[in-house]
Amino acid sequence: MSIYRDTGIAPSEITPRQNFERRRFLRCAVGTLAAGLLPAPALASNAADTVALSARRAAHWSTSEPLTPLAKLLAYNNFYEFGSSKSDPALYAHKLPIRPWTVVVDGLVARPRRFDLDDLLRLAPLEERVYRLRCVEAWSMVVPWIGYPLATLLRAVEPLGSAKFVEFQSFYDPEVVTPHFFGFLEFPYVEGLRLDEALHPLTLFTLGLYGETLPRQNGAPVRIVVPWKYGYKSAKSIQRIRLVEEQPLTSWPKAEHRNYGFYANVNPGLSHPYWDQSRERRIGDIFKRPSQMFNGYGDAVASMYAGMDLQRNF
Ligand code: MTE
Repeated sequence: MSIYRDTGIAPSEITPRQNFERRRFLRCAVGTLAAGLLPAPALASNAADTVALSARRAAHWSTSEPLTPLAKLLAYNNFYEFGSSKSDPALYAHKLPIRPWTVVVDGLVARPRRFDLDDLLRLAPLEERVYRLRCVEAWSMVVPWIGYPLATLLRAVEPLGSAKFVEFQSFYDPEVVTPHFFGFLEFPYVEGLRLDEALHPLTLFTLGLYGETLPRQNGAPVRIVVPWKYGYKSAKSIQRIRLVEEQPLTSWPKAEHRNYGFYANVNPGLSHPYWDQSRERRIGDIFKRPSQMFNGYGDAVASMYAGMDLQRNF
């Protein structure tokens, strides 16, 4: 159960950790100045702005592999709206305005709806699921994510029979994103899944990690996590989810269709011009380890691709 229900306090009423820490810092700084000493150089510009979120561990869906330390998850990110180096999101994602936040779920559905963050937190019991996530850049991580199946959210809007794909659109405001983003990606960032992939119980509508709401650099306040696909499928800071008939033109294939496919299933047998897909490095490890087909989730997901040529549908 979420702490919001335990305490009766709406998430929107809780002081974000960043504000709290800024106040504490200011109190300390004033105290230090009063004592005639110089304060510490600056408040860490880390984009962490989180509150506690409790959830029951879903053992069935969780790996028991060692977790990637939180500090590493906060400091090594891909979030091109906030820069193209791995350390940029921690420095610049504090600009992301996460409260209030709404997610519109519409398109080919019987009951289109705009959800605010409180609605989303209350829609279903929160689960903690420890998933591996592997990036196409051949690094990977193991994270205790918090959320519930995306299927729960999609069923709430009643998809029509004509809906075949789901499109996710991330936050974008040219006034807010940093100017030095990766040149060829167009924003807003768009991702997509086939409807059966989106309804698969492994696909997690994600509101937190490590017992707290999502840090901004990891895609606050809501993202998806699709653990058998390369990390770029796991869209961050989602504002709109649209059910559609045609396969959406998503950001990476739009930028470079030869090297980034729509399906993006982890496939060590399929080479990529920039990175060796047969091996991967867990963030923080020295040595690489072999990569696994479907990132090790084949038992649960391979049947969705039976009869498909995965060399062509990559
Ligand atoms: N979502 C948005 N909106 N923008 C992005 O640049 N990068 C993707 C994905 N989701 C990205 C995004 C990529 S390439 C990866 S590997 C993962 O987010 C990284 O998630 P993490 O920073 O939490 O590890």
